[in-house]
Amino acid sequence: MIEQRIHSDLSERVKNKQAKVGIVGLGYVGLPLGVYFASNGYEVLGFDIKCERVNLINQGKSYIRDAKGSELSRLVKSGKISATWDYEKVRECDVIQICVPTPVNINKEPDVSYIVGTTEEISKRLRKGQLIILKSTTFPKTTESVVLPILERSGLRVGRDFFLAFSPERIDPGNEQFTIDNTPTVVGGVTPQCTKLAVLLYKNAGSKVVAVSSARVAELTKLLENTFRNVNIALMNELAQLCERMHINIWEAIDAASTKPFGFMPFYPGPGVGGHCIPIDPYYLSWKAREYDFHTSFIELSAKVNENMPYYVVNKIVESLSNAGVCPGKAKVLVLGIAFKKDVDDLRDSPALKIIEILEGKVGKVFYNDPYIKSTVVNNKKYTSTPIDNLTLNSQLSTHDSSTGSDGRSTIHDFDCVLIATGHSVYDYKKIVKNANLVVDARNATKNLKGGNIVKLGC
Ligand SMILES: NC(=O)c1ccc[n+]([C@@H]2O[C@H](COP(=O)([O-])OP(=O)(O)OC[C@H]3O[C@@H](n4cnc5c(N)ncnc54)[C@H](O)[C@@H]3O)[C@@H](O)[C@H]2O)c1
Repeated sequence: MIEQRIHSDLSERVKNKQAKVGIVGLGYVGLPLGVYFASNGYEVLGFDIKCERVNLINQGKSYIRDAKGSELSRLVKSGKISATWDYEKVRECDVIQICVPTPVNINKEPDVSYIVGTTEEISKRLRKGQLIILKSTTFPKTTESVVLPILERSGLRVGRDFFLAFSPERIDPGNEQFTIDNTPTVVGGVTPQCTKLAVLLYKNAGSKVVAVSSARVAELTKLLENTFRNVNIALMNELAQLCERMHINIWEAIDAASTKPFGFMPFYPGPGVGGHCIPIDPYYLSWKAREYDFHTSFIELSAKVNENMPYYVVNKIVESLSNAGVCPGKAKVLVLGIAFKKDVDDLRDSPALKIIEILEGKVGKVFYNDPYIKSTVVNNKKYTSTPIDNLTLNSQLSTHDSSTGSDGRSTIHDFDCVLIATGHSVYDYKKIVKNANLVVDARNATKNLKGGNIVKLGC
């Protein structure tokens, strides 16, 4: 049968690593994925609409910390990976993995326009014997109800002429313990043949694979993981506020609870949630749920708690300044760490940005320092990372404090309050506490330090 032949031809190409793997969208997910496939023997062709990204890749230069520059450079030199903005070349690919953004709009509704746009481009060039895998996080049934109809406009049929699956990306940028190499890949195809091919691809690349019965189960798996995280962080954020009222240290209680070898896993309070996943993905599920007359109360409740945290932290700063005898309206406040989590350079949806925005109306002047983020814009106002003396442990990463000297440049003591919004490992917290007038610590970065000038969230 002809469809059997198409399937077995592609299987053979995948098995022999002759299949050319296209990756559409070369960001935090797509570029490390491309490097992973190229390192594991496949020829990879990346697609991106940003010409500067395409040029950098072709020069072997990485702009994503999780895709090591040395490895990328080696793979480019050996012809294993290259990039293009020319969609015509999707015809050359046997496998195409879609890794484009899936944001929410201003009303927190899913915006799948990147998926739709990309799929339309692929559909115009779809040929027999291609395997398309959607990796972007999205609501259940996107693969079957959004992607599939667009691809079938080509006149080709899924399971017969081409194959389609969903496989969520589960990487945690900046996490060196769990990477793309040792995190199992979940796969659900639109037909059993589609699942088989996608499983074969990831297994052959070296992944441990978990096959599920459908694309919609795979889509839900990803939303389940991130909603679980969002809800548990919200629980800790609520308990942190209770603990403050009761004068109990929540961090100590979490550490103690974590010693239980079963039935508990730690989550931590903080100034809110950020990044392209945790604050966004649950809304994809709650939006879809409404189509079924269903209201996801846990998601709404967590959003309420988590999105209130930046306001809560700002109130804490204002209150702490007043308690220290400083007029908040005249105070200089330094926000330390503005990336959405420690040791990454990703600023998307970072709660620190919201904190800066709220602080602007409440204190005298707001500054920030982040070794990974040189400048940013909040509410149309440009901020540049303030160089500060003696701030970091690692001189290589202290690009923003290396140029500092003593002549009129900042020291930590120059600020009325230092907010630890993101606990980057590179900061020297001992020195910070020793020299600061007031430290508001939203991350427990000062865990083992003592000082009358520390005000900690959740204590
Ligand atoms: N960042 C994470 O930690 C993470 C983890 C797991 C899953 N995800 C999911 O993976 C998807 C991608 O996220 P990301 O963080 O890599 O996004 P990103 O913004 O870092 O990268 C997306 C890339 O796609 C490119 N792009 C946009 N439209 C395109 C088009 N039409 N054709 C080709 N390229 C196009 C952009 O230029 C960009 O380089 C999202 O659905 C996200 O939810 C992200």
